[in-house]
Amino acid sequence: MKQRTIAEPYKIKMVEPIKMTTREYRAEKVREAGYNTFLLHSEDVYIDLLTDSGTSAMSDRQWAGMMLGDEAYAGARNFYNMERAMQEIYGFKYLVPTHQGRAAEHITSQLRTKPGQYVPMNMYFTTTREHMERAGGIFYDCIIDEAHDPQSEHPFKGNVDLNKLQRLVDEKGAESIAYLSIAPCVNMAGGQPFSMENLRQVAEWAKRYGLAIIFDATRAVENCYFIQQREEGYANKPIREILREMMSYGEGCTMSSKKDNLVNIGGFLATNNEEFFIKAKEMVVVFEGLHTYGGLSGRDMEAVARGMYEMVEDAYIASRVRQVEYLGQRLREGGVPIVLPVGGHAVFLDAKRFLPHLPQEHFPAQALAAELYVDSGVRSMERGIVSAGRDPVTGEHRRPKLELVRLTIPRRVYTNLHMDVVAESCQALYEERDRIKGLKMVYEPSSLRFFQARFEPLP
Ligand code: F0G
Repeated sequence: MKQRTIAEPYKIKMVEPIKMTTREYRAEKVREAGYNTFLLHSEDVYIDLLTDSGTSAMSDRQWAGMMLGDEAYAGARNFYNMERAMQEIYGFKYLVPTHQGRAAEHITSQLRTKPGQYVPMNMYFTTTREHMERAGGIFYDCIIDEAHDPQSEHPFKGNVDLNKLQRLVDEKGAESIAYLSIAPCVNMAGGQPFSMENLRQVAEWAKRYGLAIIFDATRAVENCYFIQQREEGYANKPIREILREMMSYGEGCTMSSKKDNLVNIGGFLATNNEEFFIKAKEMVVVFEGLHTYGGLSGRDMEAVARGMYEMVEDAYIASRVRQVEYLGQRLREGGVPIVLPVGGHAVFLDAKRFLPHLPQEHFPAQALAAELYVDSGVRSMERGIVSAGRDPVTGEHRRPKLELVRLTIPRRVYTNLHMDVVAESCQALYEERDRIKGLKMVYEPSSLRFFQARFEPLP
């Protein structure tokens, strides 16, 4: 039987008008922005699929909670609400709030990495790797090979390859490893989940060598949905239980609340390790704010606390992930090359297959994102050679196998008709792909270059 429709378990109470512009206007704006969608003004964007980070629509309960912000410098009521929610939903003992995810990564990297140590990760994430390298750590990719292949339909492309972990220990010794950084719904692989079975094996392996798992829990709930749908034994388990089991295999996590937690700002570090917690508290007061607010206002912490309970409602997470799947389905039907299976937060266009006439050094994904904006006012993001940056040792471009454009779906914000507009625009571009030209980089920042780099069209 065809899968039944699951509609959104909410209705719309407030709307935000968005601007429709002309093609000529957008061509001018993208030129002014140096062909970098990060440099566009949001007002000039019709459908904003740049990111799912901080772009969620909050619920009436979260907004009501904002009015109950206790804006005390120390010990705000909302901190204790957030701490309790984190303990109940994630299951860790100690909470250190931060203004967003990368602040928690900064603290974790500085405190848990000795210069020269390896940090195995199931694929890199931009800010996570940056902080790891700033702390003197060396990124070690331990994701399965399938994750680097946009056409592999492996159901758990976020899985860790245990042989790769073993090889590192055999060659360098367990003491050369700082900790394992494990991310659910791997962003750079296309939002791909790992299985609980794989995580269990990784946890057993880590235990054998006395290594800690610290999750990047940013999109853990979306990963739990895939486990519920795809993994034997989980079909009847509530998302809330699956999340608790997942987190139980780690010592702690860093978190960007701007994703799963359904808020516009926030993040945290959570752990069961008291010694690490004490050091993290000492560090957070230097870089973020007192350990009971970490750069957040009381009202922000209240919104996070309430968002944590909402994100684990089964009907919510099903409609969220299925909207992403809907866009993927429309693109597939139109013959547009995308990464399969479709991930939890975004659909990724495969720019290598979309624009096979462009070599990677002509930045095909960057060019495609700019063209998409000109065609329909849809803003997306490059996730290819520009995002990958340069190798810190050789100074050469890193050349990732994946050259992608990310169409990231904000949570509870757009309707499926918006998704139709996006799909039609991608399809129209695909039909005229031969006319799309590459770009050259004319300004390159020294780190995280994708945010501020500028380009010009090649003749
Ligand atoms: N980890 C992952 C997997 C992320 O996707 C992000 C942010 C972070 C950590 C950092 O969190 O932004 O709160 O500091 N990703 C955003 C994105 C920026 O668009 O994918 P942050």
